[in-house]
Amino acid sequence: MFLHIVGARPNFPKVKPLMEEMRKNGISQKLLHTGQHYDYLMSKVFFSQLDIPVPDFHLDGYLGKTHAEQTGNMMIELEKVFEKLKPEGIIVYGDINSTLSASLAAVKLNIPIIHIESGLRSFDRKMPEEVNRVLVDHMSNYLFCIDSTSVTNLKNEGITEGVHLSGNLMIDTLKTMTIEDNPTDSILMTLHRPSNVDDKEKLFKILNDINLLGERVLFPAHPRVKTMIGDTTFSNIEITEPMGYKEFITNLKNCKYTISDSGGIQCEASVLNTPLITLRDTTEHPDTILFGTNTLCLDSSEIKDIKLKNSNYSPEIWDGKSAERIVEVLNELL
Ligand code: UD1
Repeated sequence: MFLHIVGARPNFPKVKPLMEEMRKNGISQKLLHTGQHYDYLMSKVFFSQLDIPVPDFHLDGYLGKTHAEQTGNMMIELEKVFEKLKPEGIIVYGDINSTLSASLAAVKLNIPIIHIESGLRSFDRKMPEEVNRVLVDHMSNYLFCIDSTSVTNLKNEGITEGVHLSGNLMIDTLKTMTIEDNPTDSILMTLHRPSNVDDKEKLFKILNDINLLGERVLFPAHPRVKTMIGDTTFSNIEITEPMGYKEFITNLKNCKYTISDSGGIQCEASVLNTPLITLRDTTEHPDTILFGTNTLCLDSSEIKDIKLKNSNYSPEIWDGKSAERIVEVLNELL
């Protein structure tokens, strides 16, 4: 039996197609939600919209606020489940704290680790996700990459065994959606990176700069960001609750352009041909800049001068068949 570990919003569109394909192939599997994201709009709405099975295990309870609290508390609980279930392997996704905790707990119990979205690198160790990526890749037995750049990154760190170029599960999910075509004049914005939102002065500078663009901005705010903003309003920015998956990708496809500091949105925007300004100085998806719609920008006051890119980028391997490729490899393991 394989045990999928998910915890936060970006994991959910990735686990969906893989679970479906494993089910079709009769591979025994269970799903564990660490509870890292617990708000309805950050978690449950994705399960219902994407028809993801109700998790077999849910680590309910307060995980803590700091990275060490979160990672440590999750490890303690995950170890108990792993010892009881003795899975043939755990399947972990992306670069969030849940991914690191599960891998650390599993590696000490000699449980094989299957890492989805392996080899991405921003080369910025100040990002918690970059540290998570590097550590998880070095503990993993099977490493599934979304692109050849990731395979090269792993090779440069001496990891060549168990590496597979499988494509992008998140794009598998995107390709199954029927998205209404209804272009608008609005800008869509998401922000949640600690480097942009944890310092109030920095966050308000960004919001003021974006307000000054004089265009209508739709901003579904992460709960942490909403708390920082409090009651302050900006005349051109409509701050809303976090959006569900369907609502979000519909807005992503139909907006004039997007401003974000997310990882996954860089891939989705390039596939949907939506110009994207990524408010960061590094990216773990450099190909979306070279070939896609993405432009990096560290200073929000420079957004107005950026020449937007409409350059649809969807590598051949992002063909909606990533889950099939991964399952072929998993079948060989059984
Ligand atoms: C996490 C991931 C990030 C991912 C993002 C997607 C890590 C290190 N980061 O960041 O890579 O892009 O999820 O959204 O794992 N909170 C709520 N409700 C929730 C979840 C969080 O109010 O449902 C608040 C809590 O105060 C929490 C804080 O947000 O302490 C931060 O949440 P956390 O899961 O630690 O990190 P994210 O910023 O969501």
